Order: sequence, then structure tokens, then C-alpha cells
Amino acid sequence: MNEEVATPSVARAVVCPELGPLDQLTVQSRPIVEPGEGMVRLEVAASGVNFVDGLICQGKYQLKPQAPFVPGSEVAGTVAAVGPGVDGWAVGDRALVFCGFGGFASHVDVPALSLVRVPASLSLPRAAALVQSYATMLFTLTRRTTVAAGEWVLVLGAGGGIGLAAIDVARSLGARVIAAASTPERLEAARAMGAEATIAYEEEDLKTRAREISGGGVDIVVDPVGGAHSEPALRALGKLGRFCVIGFASGPIPAVPLNLVLLNNRTVVGVDWGGWTFTDPFGNRAILDELMSMVADGRLHPTEPSTYPLEAAASVMTALLDRSLAGKAVLIP
Ligand SMILES: NC(=O)c1ccc[n+]([C@@H]2O[C@H](COP(=O)([O-])OP(=O)(O)OC[C@H]3O[C@@H](n4cnc5c(N)ncnc54)[C@H](OP(=O)(O)O)[C@@H]3O)[C@@H](O)[C@H]2O)c1
Repeated sequence: MNEEVATPSVARAVVCPELGPLDQLTVQSRPIVEPGEGMVRLEVAASGVNFVDGLICQGKYQLKPQAPFVPGSEVAGTVAAVGPGVDGWAVGDRALVFCGFGGFASHVDVPALSLVRVPASLSLPRAAALVQSYATMLFTLTRRTTVAAGEWVLVLGAGGGIGLAAIDVARSLGARVIAAASTPERLEAARAMGAEATIAYEEEDLKTRAREISGGGVDIVVDPVGGAHSEPALRALGKLGRFCVIGFASGPIPAVPLNLVLLNNRTVVGVDWGGWTFTDPFGNRAILDELMSMVADGRLHPTEPSTYPLEAAASVMTALLDRSLAGKAVLIP
């Protein structure tokens, strides 16, 4: 029997008609066409939802896609059809892909070269949810800077997607982690991921506590939050400390006095993983392969995400943006 006959002829996808409020997103049906040369059709088991997806749909991100478009940058699923000229992939294989756009859908057509095999030990929802957060953090801590065993890493927004991935990756490299977050639940999630100390940064003095815990100053700061927490975190860095600028989830982009960088020979490290994937797709491919082998041999432990239907895309993105949803979330088409 030809397995492709069993594939539905219609795909469902979340469509953003124009950049603006999230409540205008709808789920629409569209015909499925056979994959072209070098392409593979993936039946999507789960699509990861990220903070940045909500910014993109609203036109508040540096990348502004031509509307209408289907949002969603990371999916995992099973191969449903293989186009001409594709080697090494067969119907039923489990794979993930960083597709950039088009991921909030029941099916995606992607170049076979971009597919990454998902190990049997990793559920497809966990695979879909880890791509952006974990790739960003492996890129940060092994390509943009390095972290030595025993070094202290202070993670801001530690209960969020980037934060939890930062803890896991830092621990896999032998680092010690201090997690800073806003609520006891988020700090507990960070502890469960491997942080050995926590700071409730809306109540406690971030700089003083981080310096106390690390015995003088941390070696690395991972900052996906920005705003008022960045300067105290920079001040918490010890000698030769590295401050990794990941994002500004709190809104304001902080301006810090540069004498704080001069003091202690500190370094500010900019991280633009998304931009880098376009300039070095093979480098990113190596990152994704590395992540899969680290998950397969138990060095990384991505969490099981919360699950929602495609119809909930707008409300999930809104909840990430307004801080009411913590941890990772996926859409199940
Ligand atoms: N540079 C890169 O390559 C790259 C790659 C991926 C993502 N990012 C960026 O990293 C940032 C975090 O992404 P994420 O996926 O970790 O998002 P997330 O899961 O929603 O986590 C964001 C965290 O920011 C904290 N936060 C503080 N103030 C906030 C506010 N006013 N609104 C919302 N959150 C607030 C929250 O922790 P508390 O409540 O504990 O404070 C939350 O856990 C985003 O800005 C994203 O664009 C950058």
C-alpha cells in the first residue's frame, strides 16, 4: 500500500492576516501539494510557541514577514511524503526542523537537508519545544563564549523557555547555576532543572545576593529579560566575567554605564542566534545535531511542554507576552 494515500488532502494552519493585534489570527484550511525536488512533507506532531512568535505577529520584532503568513518557527513530527531527489528519509521517520515560519500547521514542507532526526527517547512535543531555546543557549555558552566546569552562571528569567534551557546547558557543561525569577513556582522549576541557588529578583537585592552565593562574583550572566535587572546583574559579575545579552522580555532595553564593563575586565557578549542561522545554516545544523546527541545520552533534560490546540495560538502567545504562562508550550495540530 502506498502510505501517502492515507495523508489528508487538506492541511490546517494558523494564519496571521497582517502584522498587528493577535486576536486577528485564524485557523484556515489549505490543499496539500506533493513535495517538490529535495523537499519533505512533515506531518506536524507539535509546534513550539515562543515569546518571539508573539512579537513577530504584532510587527514588534526586527524580522517583519510579508503578511499574510503562517507563524511558528519550530516543529517536530513524522515524515509523511518524500520529494524527488531526497536520500536518507522515509515515510514515518521522526524529525524536527527549525523552519523559521509556517510551523503552526498540521503539515510543513521543508528542505530534507534541514531535518534533524529525533532520538527515540525524546517525545515529539519535547523535541518541538526545545529547538529555539536550547539552540540559542548552546550557541551562547559554547560558540559566543565558553563556560568552564565549576564556573558560576547567573540566569535571569530562569523559569522561562530560555532560562530553563540556560540552566540545563550550563549544568551539562559542569557550571554551577544561580537562578533569578519572579515567583516561587518559577524558582522551583529552575531548581528542578538543576539550579543550586535561587534569587527572587523582584524582592531581593540581585547584585548582593549573587555575589554572596558565588563567593565574590559570578562568571557569566545570561540575560533574556533586560530592563531594571540588567545593571545589577552586570554589577554581580566578577573578574573576566561575561554578560550575555539574549533579549528584553521585560520591555525596556537597558542602558548601562560602560565603566562597569571596564572594571574587572568584563565582556558584553551579544547573542543573535536567529540571525546567525541564516548566515551559517551548517553551523546551526551542527548545533541541532549536538543537542540531539546530548539529549540522547542524558546530558540534557528538556521539559515536557504544556499542550494546546492550534486554535489557542493567539492566547498562548499572549500569555507568554504578559508573563502569565511559564515554561514551554506547544500547539498540537
Ligand atoms: N538572542 C537570541 O538569539 C534569542 C533567542 C530566543 C529568544 N530570545 C529572546 O529571549 C527573551 C525570552 O524568551 P523566552 O522564550 O525565554 O520567553 P519566556 O519563556 O516568555 O520567558 C521570558 C521571561 O522573562 C521574564 N520577564 C520579566 N519581565 C517580563 C515581562 N514584563 N513580560 C514578560 N516576561 C517577563 C519572565 O520571568 P519572570 O516572571 O521570572 O521575571 C519570563 O519567564 C525574549 O525577549 C526573546 O525574544 C532571544
